[in-house]
Amino acid sequence: MGERIDFDAVYQETAGLGGPPWEIGGPQPALAAVLDQGVKGPKVLDAGCGTGDLALALARRGYDVTAVDISPVAIEMARAKAAAEGLAVRFEVQDATRLSLPPAPFDSVFDSGLLHSLQRRGDDEADAYLALLPGLAAPGATVFVLAVSLRAGEGWGLTEEYLRSPFAAPAWVGTEVEEIGVAADWDGRDLTLSGFLLRTIRAPET
Ligand SMILES: C[S@@+](CC[C@H](N)C(=O)[O-])C[C@H]1O[C@@H](n2cnc3c(N)ncnc32)[C@H](O)[C@@H]1O
Repeated sequence: MGERIDFDAVYQETAGLGGPPWEIGGPQPALAAVLDQGVKGPKVLDAGCGTGDLALALARRGYDVTAVDISPVAIEMARAKAAAEGLAVRFEVQDATRLSLPPAPFDSVFDSGLLHSLQRRGDDEADAYLALLPGLAAPGATVFVLAVSLRAGEGWGLTEEYLRSPFAAPAWVGTEVEEIGVAADWDGRDLTLSGFLLRTIRAPET
């Protein structure tokens, strides 16, 4: 059993203090660059969306966005941000290890820091989530997973081998892993942690 973080408490305690370290006021730079290139739509899922900055960036670009997080506090904040901008995003409180979503597979799935958070608690939760992922991605859909690397020296994080292993052929094709910087804000100080951005395609049905 790994480290258990009470995400609700973290969001509550850091509200008004700039938020938790992963809240940087927008999507992770590596994912912002992906958005600028355009992603497959229209239906997009942000799993472990936090207070919704990535989901909102996608909605601003016209995607049909569903975004889930286990923390009711984070989802409430995300809904408030969407309402302030008049953006329609389906923000739902859901546990990614036992997701219940309508049977409408997504054209793109984003995971910005969820898998590494689950794996930090232990392999069981990460495995449960990874087992559900293929059912969320439509044939030909793109999946993006952004994670902190074990090499960041934080005492937790993923190895490239661990990240690649669930996304092997034939279920997944064209899997690429790029070394990136993961941005964080620690008490007002900008930090960059070593990380990975995986992108892969759910094999089209044959
Ligand atoms: C490192 S934060 C990243 C948040 C956001 N994606 C971002 O990039 O700012 C991880 C998020 O995963 C959420 N989370 C953790 N366990 C979860 C689970 N089992 N199901 C859904 N969300 C979960 C946390 O509440 C938190 O918002």
